[in-house]
Amino acid sequence: ADAFDEDCDYLFKAVLIGDSGVGKSNLLSRFAKDEFRLDSKPTIGVEFAYRNVKVSEKLIKAQIWDTAGQERFRAITSSYYRGALGALLVYDITRRATFESVKKWLRELRQFGSSDMVVILLGNKLDLGHSREVSQEEGNHLAEEEGLCFMETSALEKLNVEEAFLLMITKIH
Ligand code: GTP
Ligand code: MG
Repeated sequence: ADAFDEDCDYLFKAVLIGDSGVGKSNLLSRFAKDEFRLDSKPTIGVEFAYRNVKVSEKLIKAQIWDTAGQERFRAITSSYYRGALGALLVYDITRRATFESVKKWLRELRQFGSSDMVVILLGNKLDLGHSREVSQEEGNHLAEEEGLCFMETSALEKLNVEEAFLLMITKIH
C-alpha cells in the first residue's frame, strides 16, 4: 500500500461499526491521539487514523477506519470493509436500542467482510453505569453466542480502550 512505512513490519486495516452516537469516533481518537470530545459531531463519510504498536518485537501499523452510524452519512459499504482484518462493533450500554442493533451490524459484517475477520464486541460508556440499560452479562452472552470477544469500555474515562484495540491487534497478528 502507498501508506506503508519502511520501518514497519506489518500494515493492516480494521474498522469501527455500530449505531450513531455509541462513541466510535471517540474510542478511535482516544486510542490514536489520546483525545476525547464531549461535543463531537456525527461522522460524515469515512475517516481514519493510524497508530503504530509493537507486538512481540514486530512493529505493526494499524489503520483504523471509522464511518457514520447514520445511514444517510455512510459511504459505500463494500469498500469500507474491503481488506479489513478486524472490526470493533460498538454499542452504548446506556441505550438498549444500540445493543439490539448489534445483530444487524453482524449481518452487514458477514455480508461484506471477510469470514476470518477478528470481531470484538464493545459495550461503551462504562462511566455511565448509573444509567445502564444493558447488563454486562447480556453483552457477554451475546458475544459467546456469536463467537466474538467482548469488553466494556469508556472513551471518556480511558477504561479498556487501549486493551480493546490491542486485543484486536494481537488476535489478528
Ligand atoms: P457517529 O459518528 O454518528 O456514528 O457517532 P459515534 O459512534 O462516532 O459517536 P461519537 O464518538 O461521536 O460520540 C457520541 C457522543 O457520545 C459524544 O457526545 C461523545 O462525547 C459521547 N461519548 C463517547 N464515548 C463516551 C464515553 O465513553 N462516555 C461518555 N460518557 N460519553 C461518551
Ligand atoms: Mg463518529
